[in-house]
Amino acid sequence: MHTIDRSKLEILLRTEEQKFLAEHPKSYSLYQRARKSLHGGVPMLWMIRWAGSFPVFVQEAKDAHFIDVDGKSYIDFCLGDTGAMTGHAPNATLAAIQNQAAKGITLMLPYEDAVQVGEELQRRFGLPYWQFTLTATDANRFVLRMARMITERPKVLVFNYCYHGSVDETLIVLDDDGTPISRPNNMGPQVDPTFTTKVVEFNDIAALETALSSKDVAAVLAEPVMTNIGIIHPDPGYHDELRRITSKYGTLLIIDETHTICTGPGGYSAAHRLQPDFLTIGKPLAGGVPAAVYGFTREVADRFEARLVAENSDVGGIGGTLAGNALSIAAMKATLENVLTPSFYEKAIRLQEKFTTGVEAVIKEFKLPWIVKRLGNRSEYWFRPTPPRNGGEAFAAIDHELDRYMHLYSLNRGILLTPFHNMALISSETTDADVDYHTSVFRSAVVTLLE
Ligand SMILES: Cc1ncc(COP(=O)(O)O)c(C=O)c1O
Repeated sequence: MHTIDRSKLEILLRTEEQKFLAEHPKSYSLYQRARKSLHGGVPMLWMIRWAGSFPVFVQEAKDAHFIDVDGKSYIDFCLGDTGAMTGHAPNATLAAIQNQAAKGITLMLPYEDAVQVGEELQRRFGLPYWQFTLTATDANRFVLRMARMITERPKVLVFNYCYHGSVDETLIVLDDDGTPISRPNNMGPQVDPTFTTKVVEFNDIAALETALSSKDVAAVLAEPVMTNIGIIHPDPGYHDELRRITSKYGTLLIIDETHTICTGPGGYSAAHRLQPDFLTIGKPLAGGVPAAVYGFTREVADRFEARLVAENSDVGGIGGTLAGNALSIAAMKATLENVLTPSFYEKAIRLQEKFTTGVEAVIKEFKLPWIVKRLGNRSEYWFRPTPPRNGGEAFAAIDHELDRYMHLYSLNRGILLTPFHNMALISSETTDADVDYHTSVFRSAVVTLLE
């Protein structure tokens, strides 16, 4: 089994950084200019987290590819961290956007499209009632409010190292002793999340039951498969226990499908017949146009309506002037009807299987203590020999230098991976040749590292 020579890794990283700098003069100069008007030189602070010392500025993107301002082309396996899982600018979504934009963008009144989207969401996800927001963060924030309101309980529960957007209550982790703490770098939380939130490890049924048994938890907010600290599958039977225990203690169950929509047209919930009280999802629903939704059961709707004061519903903490705007909904309708279809998944998942097999073959060839995990059209490789069972184990396996090397090596050869971990997402527009090219670049990154 190979171990990584750390001083060699450092040298290789420096070489890749120099190559990146030399080959992106226009991105570099735009970045220098941007630093004078944009905080950190980027539109949003997390965009500084790329492997190079500045971000690549994009000229244009289409399907699974994009071209940067220096004229270099890339295969995009990041796909807007799921926001562009459909492929960039899918034709059907584009046509709907153009058509709707000419007919009005936002009114605070619905068009018929909204009803059709509601019916389609019902069909896919099995929940009867739906509401629209602009981001998955908002969808999660609003269902947490609804859950606290109808249960009249103060707390929520999340899993260690989850991510559900910039939702205050969820920025909490367990420290090395298993004590809940505000997540490191949680920027100025309004309330210390240890007051609002319980946190346990995923796949730990006993800890979940203990946490819920005091009956002060309004809702568990969970991804059905964790994806934001790498892919962590539930143990067999875990979801049955999660549903049984939440019901037993009167806690509502929220399933966040924002990333696990990579599983199939109805997300992981439809594929595995989960029965949540709420379901949230955003990102790719409208082909990259800001749009997210949350759905809930008839029982939740009845309990909520019993407490709702309609006169104050616009200032009650669940809102968003642009939520449900006509453009987002038209884009969502077109994307659901024409892009995120069963044939999309068939093609994208087959390609992802090929991607995973390619990476696994290289790992085996060089006897690396690494693994690859896959969920639908998403995969991730890990620098550890066994799959982690929870967020704590996954966090301990992060190797920032190695991540950075693999990302930068790929970027310098025309491949974009997701910056946050080693995630590769595949759209139906990715090609067999793209996947084969990735396998060869992954192999040469490994060869260079080990030779
Ligand atoms: C599972 C999950 N839920 C919600 C969100 C929040 O999405 P957004 O940043 O679009 O609000 C994310 C973002 O990464 C996510 O991974």
